[in-house]
This record gives sequence, C-alpha cells and structure tokens, in this order.
Amino acid sequence: MPDIHRAADDSPPGLNLSPSLSPNLSQYLPDTAATEAFGAMLAAALTCEEACGLIIWLSGQLGTGKTTATRGLLRALGHSGNVKSPTYTLLEPYTVSRISLYHFDFYRFNQPEEFLDAGLDEYFAGDGVCLVEWADKALPYVPQPDIELQLSVESDGRRAILRVLSERGRACLMHTGLKTSADPK
Ligand SMILES: Nc1ncnc2c1ncn2[C@@H]1O[C@H](COP(=O)(O)OP(=O)(O)O)[C@@H](O)[C@H]1O
Ligand SMILES: [Mg+2]
Repeated sequence: MPDIHRAADDSPPGLNLSPSLSPNLSQYLPDTAATEAFGAMLAAALTCEEACGLIIWLSGQLGTGKTTATRGLLRALGHSGNVKSPTYTLLEPYTVSRISLYHFDFYRFNQPEEFLDAGLDEYFAGDGVCLVEWADKALPYVPQPDIELQLSVESDGRRAILRVLSERGRACLMHTGLKTSADPK
C-alpha cells in the first residue's frame, strides 16, 4: 500500500491529513498495469457516503495516463464495458456501483467559456462524482477539486502524485486505506 508523505508532526498514525490538507502521495508506476492499479486503488474513495459531489482533477500532459487511471478505477467499481477517452465527446457518463460518475476531458476547449456554453456546470452541482482531464482549460469556471491526481512521464513509466485539497477529499481517501508516513525529505 503506498504511503502519503507529509511533513512530520505529532499527529497520531493513520490517515490524518490535517492541518495542511495537501499531503503528497508520490508513487512510481512502471507500466500501464500499475497506472490502472493506482486508479483502482481510488475506487474505495468513490463508494463512501462522503463521495457525494466529489471532484477529482486528473492533471498532466498528453499521454501521461489520465484515461488509463480512470479505466482502472471504473473497472474496480465493476464497469465491464469500454472506457473511452472523452477527448472528442467532452463527457463520458457512467453509472456503476450506484454512483453517477462523469469523466470529462476539456483538452479541445479553445476558450474556457465553452464549459458554460455546454452547460457542464450542472454536473458539478449534483451528487455525482466528477473526474476531469485538462481542468485548467476550463478555469475559472470549473470548480476546484477535492483531490488531484497529477501524472508525469518518468523514465519508462509514470510518476503519480496525489494531493488532497479538501476535507471531503480527505474523508473519501480514508476509505482507501492509504497510510501516512513522515515526509522523507
Ligand atoms: N505507468 C505507465 N508506464 C508506461 N506507459 C503507460 C503508463 N500508464 C499509461 N501508459 C500508457 O500511456 C499511454 C497514454 O495513456 P492515456 O491514459 O491515454 O493518457 P492521457 O489520458 O493522460 O492522455 C497509453 O498507451 C498507456 O498504455
Ligand atoms: Mg486522456
């Protein structure tokens, strides 16, 4: 189980992410299967009560594994069909494990106002879970995330960095069994 690295303090062990709410879990993902497994690990965060309205940003350049991680997450939730990139459709919706999950990709936005023009703000005001690729292309209209998964290329694989950005995000990640550890720096 990966560890969340954070500044050392005298908090009790377990997933106590306060006071900063921005600990980093950093993990090397050697291959595509590892990226899918990382996404799968997040599934438990989406099935808890606190996940109502949860927003996760998937950040990183093209080809860093954002859709791959989403595929792993959806498979772990029990989705057996295709998981297509929403690059051309903007949104791929799923209903799985009694969750409405909305997978967005704003890569093709020419201007952020397209977010409002397409009426996408409504999805973010509801009870579903929103996973967003290229959220920065919809700023300032797209709501801020509870959790951010940032992916980047590192040698032959990828680096995943998970940031917790709200109390809701913290509460949801409690259900994944992630363990904290003192910051190694
Ligand atoms: N950890 C990894 N190591 C090597 N290749 C990976 C890894 N994770 C994903 N990939 C590959 O990267 C490619 C792009 O993945 P994708 O999820 O479509 O990226 P994005 O959605 O970020 O544009 C795919 O071919 C996928 O198999
Ligand atoms: Mg993608």
